[in-house]
Amino acid sequence: MRLVEAEHSDDVGRRAAALVFQQLRAKPESVITLATGSTPLPLFRELVAASKSDPGLFRRAYFVTLDEYAGIAHDDRRRLLNWLRREFLEPAGIHDRQLIAFDPLADPAAECPRIEKAIEARGGLDLAVLGLGPNGHLGFNEPGSSFASRTRMVPLAAESIISNAAYWGKEEDVPKHALTLGLGTLKQARLIILMVSGMGKADVLASLLSGPISECMPASLLRLCSTCNVIADRASLSRHLRDKNDK
Ligand code: GLP
Repeated sequence: MRLVEAEHSDDVGRRAAALVFQQLRAKPESVITLATGSTPLPLFRELVAASKSDPGLFRRAYFVTLDEYAGIAHDDRRRLLNWLRREFLEPAGIHDRQLIAFDPLADPAAECPRIEKAIEARGGLDLAVLGLGPNGHLGFNEPGSSFASRTRMVPLAAESIISNAAYWGKEEDVPKHALTLGLGTLKQARLIILMVSGMGKADVLASLLSGPISECMPASLLRLCSTCNVIADRASLSRHLRDKNDK
């Protein structure tokens, strides 16, 4: 794992975008999974801007949804695919035929292997762009997820329900289950980028960078991945840097 120190959230986005462009130059038909949430927004802005000056940039790539709420309507605004459509896929001119996306209403027992097979059929994940959950989750791989886990339906942890409540109005309205690519699926990606920004992530990032490698902290798996770049801004690194100086 390599740690890249960025100035602020826009700088995290710029540095992540540079790696995405490098990946697409090396392999235009890359299979890429993208996190939703607020952290990747500066990256999406960079990617959309680049697609305007180079309309062919993403033409041969495939995009995989990292996670999705289970059981919600296809056209629900809060469906993570619809969020990704608004923030990135539509403004960047990406077609539905380039998508591998969870159907939130399908039977998870069939849907999760279908996603795994669709990824495999295109040669496996080339790039996973991830965000860091407040409890250390990756996608919706909550604490306790096996590092070998595959794509599956999971119950959401209380912390995830609380942190996602803002999108749903109130906690009771947040779906209790989600579909997520597994940690074992993600660790096979040929390149992983973990984007982290803001003071709110300072404690969880410090524990990811220097706490124990454990399934209690799903993101600590990335310490074992030589292909992972953690791009973190100063605010999110503040606790880690302070702990290091105190030693
Ligand atoms: C969400 C998603 C993750 C995302 C994370 C961080 O619950 N399941 O894929 O990376 O939490 O979100 P944010 O970037 O808004 O902090």
